[in-house]
Amino acid sequence: MPEAKIAPSILAGDFANLEFECKRMMKSGSDWLHIDIMDGHFVPNLTIGAPVVTCIRGTLPKGESFFDCHMMVSEPEKWVGDFAKAGGDLYCFHYEATSNPEALIDQIHAAGMKAGCAIKPKTPASAVYGLVPKLDMVLVMTVEPGFGGQKFMMDCMPKVEALRAKFPDLDIEVDGGLSINTIDFAADAGANVIVAGTGVFKANDPQEAISQLREAVNKRQLK
Ligand code: DX5
Ligand code: ZN
Repeated sequence: MPEAKIAPSILAGDFANLEFECKRMMKSGSDWLHIDIMDGHFVPNLTIGAPVVTCIRGTLPKGESFFDCHMMVSEPEKWVGDFAKAGGDLYCFHYEATSNPEALIDQIHAAGMKAGCAIKPKTPASAVYGLVPKLDMVLVMTVEPGFGGQKFMMDCMPKVEALRAKFPDLDIEVDGGLSINTIDFAADAGANVIVAGTGVFKANDPQEAISQLREAVNKRQLK
């Protein structure tokens, strides 16, 4: 299994102080920053777009921090160029939002970013099996995308298990409701990239929360 990566979701941070919040997470030991892009169409919520990512990138140079852009948008093909220019490192589109995922993956790679594919809770893992050879990551959503602070959906774990059994070296990310209370289920299923919004940002000690999440994933690797 590839190494643990902890990716705090800045959606749970204070948007009036994004620079401070991102740096707070980096100093607390996060590996990636998870940036939730919502268009009010693919999901019933609006967040931020490429101009905001450009501003954050201006405060955290490339190489110092890895921007994991979770694109909860219809027509993900439309924004690849803008997010590459804004300094995105990984562009994770939703399987449900595109009719030609293979072409989109090529487009993302041609723009110089890593490509991830996310599946909603009702989308089977098998939907992405054929894409994995081209992908850098698969994101198994553990809540319905759209909002932070929702309850972790345990019934998504068999999808993580199935993906891990088939693809031992794949980066498998989980997103939604992850915290110290739920991490063991995700880690046991084989997830190694852990998104946590509320679980890290609202923790009394984010550094401790991040290291506990990492520890749980690493413990599973030794099994
Ligand atoms: C939900 C987003 C998540 C969200 C996670 O649609 O994709 O990244 O911020 O937040 P928590 O960890 O609070 O469930
Ligand atoms: Zn997300």
